[in-house]
Amino acid sequence: MGQRIPEETVEHIRRSVDIVDIIQQYVSLKKQGRNYFGLCPFHGEKTPSFSVSPEKQIYHCFGCGAGGNVFSFLMDIEGITFIEAVKRLAPRANVDLSHVVDEHPTAERKETTTMIAAHELLKKFYHHLLMHTNEGEEALNYLLQRGFTRELIEQFEIGYALPSWNATVTFLANKGFSLPLMEQAGLIVKKSGEDSYFDRFRHRIMFPIHNHQGETVAFSGRALGNEEPKYMNSPETPIFNKRHILYHFHEARLPMRQKQQVVLFEGFADVIAAVQAGISHAVATMGTALSEEQARMLRRNASSVIVCYDGDRAGIDAALRASETLVEAGCYVKVAMMPDGLDPDEYVRRYGADRFRHHVLDASLSLTAFKLEYLKRGRHLQNESERLRYIEEAVKEISRLSNAIEADYYLRQLANEFSISMDALREQMMIYGKKQVEQKQERRETVAVPVRAKLLPAFQKAERMLIAHMLRDKAIAFAAQEAIEGAFNVEEHRAIAAYLYAFYEEGHEPDVSSLLERIHDPQLKRIVTELSMMPINEDISSAELRDYIQCVLNYPKEQLLKQKEAQLRDAERQKDYERAKRIASEMIALRKSLHFGRRGING
Ligand code: GTP
Ligand code: MN
Repeated sequence: MGQRIPEETVEHIRRSVDIVDIIQQYVSLKKQGRNYFGLCPFHGEKTPSFSVSPEKQIYHCFGCGAGGNVFSFLMDIEGITFIEAVKRLAPRANVDLSHVVDEHPTAERKETTTMIAAHELLKKFYHHLLMHTNEGEEALNYLLQRGFTRELIEQFEIGYALPSWNATVTFLANKGFSLPLMEQAGLIVKKSGEDSYFDRFRHRIMFPIHNHQGETVAFSGRALGNEEPKYMNSPETPIFNKRHILYHFHEARLPMRQKQQVVLFEGFADVIAAVQAGISHAVATMGTALSEEQARMLRRNASSVIVCYDGDRAGIDAALRASETLVEAGCYVKVAMMPDGLDPDEYVRRYGADRFRHHVLDASLSLTAFKLEYLKRGRHLQNESERLRYIEEAVKEISRLSNAIEADYYLRQLANEFSISMDALREQMMIYGKKQVEQKQERRETVAVPVRAKLLPAFQKAERMLIAHMLRDKAIAFAAQEAIEGAFNVEEHRAIAAYLYAFYEEGHEPDVSSLLERIHDPQLKRIVTELSMMPINEDISSAELRDYIQCVLNYPKEQLLKQKEAQLRDAERQKDYERAKRIASEMIALRKSLHFGRRGING
């Protein structure tokens, strides 16, 4: 039997943590007035519509509607259960919940937990083989001779897989892991047509790969010599999605946020060399092109990205592609120029950390400047026709810039470099510029996000305003209970009011975050967070309050009046004057019951 965590404990933990601290581990937040704002981690966006309220201890995204308290944030962002979210925060409140097991982990969750456990154990096993056994000596020497220090090997938990077909299979079986599950985890391979397994990684240097919580979810194995493939990665598994994971992201996250900058490499060896050179805000893709998801993850943590890929043709092409993806995600991109034929790792080892920092990273170019440099490659600019072609392409590139000042800056540079008049260049740019604008508009139309209708009918606005006030003021809630009870016209509002009445009747003070604990329906949660983040005038007058209440109560009567009007016309058409008279007097009574002093609600 699993245990439940007592409600008081949950409350205690919730009160002991600050939602801003927790969310800040995932999203860069800036304070603006009372609240903090950042880019929503639950949908892709370039301008911040995600807000966190330290007073209310809740978050809400005005873009996608996500919202809740600290536990729901962790559940959503980490894909964990409520119990797991509470357990995760318990140490911050000095509460020990390590004995609590989740009553209802899904079967899936159980399996992924086991897969991660196997990776953690294997990582230690491989590391031990590298550092402390004769079998590992060749691999260790290879690393040392390449310039990896022992300290660095420890830090990155690098290991060695034996040149055996069954060392890993045996290790996992001895530890009690199910082999079919280990096959799903990508650690071993099933022999075709047989019920037996063999090791995926043999005689390879093993780089453990961590997810963003720092759990080991995959390996990349490098050959010691020139065997192919040079690197062998774990396949895609339920715990390893190459589009979502970046090498060293977990460790780089904090320095990356502090510097608001990240250095993106192509290879793990580059990241490790960078860290050795004191550049801790370094990450790498998994031997695949940078994905949109990865670009967004970087954008959420840093505003600028230095792309530092190999200096060869393939590296430059890949750098340009990654840059496009990063710009799309809203990053400011710079590109580091590596001398031809050297990768960052080799550069650091050959010229040292200082030179790498100053001559490569600090000298990195803005994306446009990089492209202008790149366009020069292989061109004989002394030759007039080649020079003209270059200028044409350069102007075309500059015309893609949306910032006019920036565009002017590069045009001027071009004008000086080739002694051409600015007017001629501007004129040329106008031609491209127009085309660009047209293309951009087309694109915008296809991706346009529907703007949520803000024009709600008056009664809905009144209900929203009223609930917003009820969420922060107990007296207003009781006044509404007295006047309206459950007569809110919108079903969700009725439900929220019911939760709120009960919450206050139990003696609680206004506390949205705590209220959210009782509400399980995600739609209701969204509405509650949205309404409590809505800007309202806290010194509401009693007249204003009465207006809202009246507006809510009047709505059904107004609907009824409309019906009666139709019935009246109907009766008159049929010359049924008796009925018409009866309906007319009913309408008079109804009109009287509508509050007279009611003003329109425009809030
Ligand atoms: P070293 O050669 O050990 O310095 O590694 P590197 O990181 O410099 O490798 P390279 O620049 O050749 O490749 C960059 C990245 O691409 C690597 O870190 C791997 O992620 C990936 N990669 C390279 N070779 C292979 C391969 O043969 N197979 C796979 N799946 N990925 C590879
Ligand atoms: Mn290399």
